[in-house]
Formats: sequence, structure tokens, C-alpha cells
Amino acid sequence: MIIAVDGPAASGKGTIARALAKRYGLPHLDTGLLYRAVGLTVLREGANPENEAHAMAAVDFDEALFDDPELRGDEAGRAASQVSAHPLVRAALLNRQRKFARQPGGAVLDGRDIGTVIAPEAEVKLFVKATPRIRAQRRHAELQRRGSFVSFDKVLADIRERDARDMARATAPLKPADDAVLLDTSFLSIDAAIQRAVALVEARTAAAA
Ligand code: CDP
Ligand code: CDP
Repeated sequence: MIIAVDGPAASGKGTIARALAKRYGLPHLDTGLLYRAVGLTVLREGANPENEAHAMAAVDFDEALFDDPELRGDEAGRAASQVSAHPLVRAALLNRQRKFARQPGGAVLDGRDIGTVIAPEAEVKLFVKATPRIRAQRRHAELQRRGSFVSFDKVLADIRERDARDMARATAPLKPADDAVLLDTSFLSIDAAIQRAVALVEARTAAAA
């Protein structure tokens, strides 16, 4: 079983994907981390994430060079969004993600284009969403917990900018697959959101059986 979980920044897709992976004993790939690693590599080289050639020079990044807080920080998120708009960068990261999705036994992947491009054959497709303001509140709280003190307004502006860029790009834009189920987590606790997601997986697998 392949489970595709897509959605905008801080919608809760990572939390849901991890919970589903644990529940069904499936391996999980957070595909945003791949773009974040490319973005961070470009920044470290002093290069420009908006330049496709600069970004392409970073696609063979060395995973050992990153630590989790840095990868999940907002600078890496912005750079990720910039490098991910380049078609060549997306193509360079495609096979790795497809291989992960198609491993025997299945997998859970979360990102922006899992249900549309990486694994259109996925049995279960969720598109997780929440209002920009609520997503900014979540991301702001998360950054604070990590000791990174960015203002709420800056986080909100960043989320809006990233949404706009991710939805507008020509290659693999952020949008729900035609057969995705929408899950709005704006007014759901984490546990309630996970329960909904599990119910959707059960409904899909029951329908398929
Ligand atoms: O956790 P958050 O949603 O803030 O970000 P992320 O999932 O780590 O993704 C960071 C950026 O990478 C996004 O803004 C997208 O531009 C890009 N991305 C993408 O284009 N395609 C994916 N499958 C995953 C991430
Ligand atoms: O992966 P994505 O960027 O979509 O979001 P996430 O990392 O799963 O969630 C972002 C933050 O929102 C985390 O700190 C979650 O604990 C929190 N969250 C929440 O408060 N309520 C939810 N229903 C889902 C996530």
C-alpha cells in the first residue's frame, strides 16, 4: 500500500504521515527534507537558490552534513521552496522518491506532489490543509520551541510567499490530485486529525478489498 500525504507548509501532513507509517508498519519519507537539503547546500556554498545551475550543483548533497534543527529551520524552508521550482532539480530527485514509494510492502510519503507526480498510483491520497493563519501559528510555536525567535508576522508572510510560489510553479505545482481526499485540520487537534486520516485509509482499503 502506498499512502501519499500532500499539503502546504505546517498543515500537519508530516505528523499525519508519521502516525500512519507507525500504525501500518510502513517506511516513511518526508520528501521536503530532500529539497531542504538541496536548498541548504546552495546557501552554504554562498550560491543563489533561484539560479537553476547553482541549485543543480547541489542535488548530490551529502546527508551527513546536516542536522535536524537546521534542516527544519525557516531559512532552509525558504531555500527549499526556491530550488524546488526548478524543473531540473525536481527531475533529479524524482527517481529516489519513486523508488522509495515502490518498495515491496509499500510506503508513506509526504510532500507537495506525491499523489500527482511521484506516486499517482497510490492507493490512498490525502491532501491536508489549514488556513494560512493557523499554519503560521503552528509553525511559529514550533520555531519557538526550537529556540528560533522569528516574529509571527514574518512566519505568516513566509508561509503566504511559499504557498504562492509552490502553487504557481509550472512543474508539479501544489494542488490536490483529482482522487485525493481533502482533510482540513484547521480546527482539529493532532489526535483528531490522525483519527480522520486512519478512518480514510480504512475506508479506502475496505473499498479496495
Ligand atoms: O514542512 P513544510 O511544509 O514547511 O516544508 P517541507 O515539506 O519541508 O517543504 C519545503 C519546500 O520544499 C516546500 O515549500 C516546497 O516548495 C518544496 N517541496 C516540494 O516542492 N515538493 C515536495 N514533494 C516537498 C517539498
Ligand atoms: O509537515 P507539515 O509542515 O505539514 O506540518 P507538521 O510538521 O506535521 O505540523 C506543524 C506543526 O503543527 C507541528 O508542531 C504540529 O505538532 C502542529 N499541529 C497541530 O498543532 N495541529 C494539527 N492538527 C497538526 C499539527
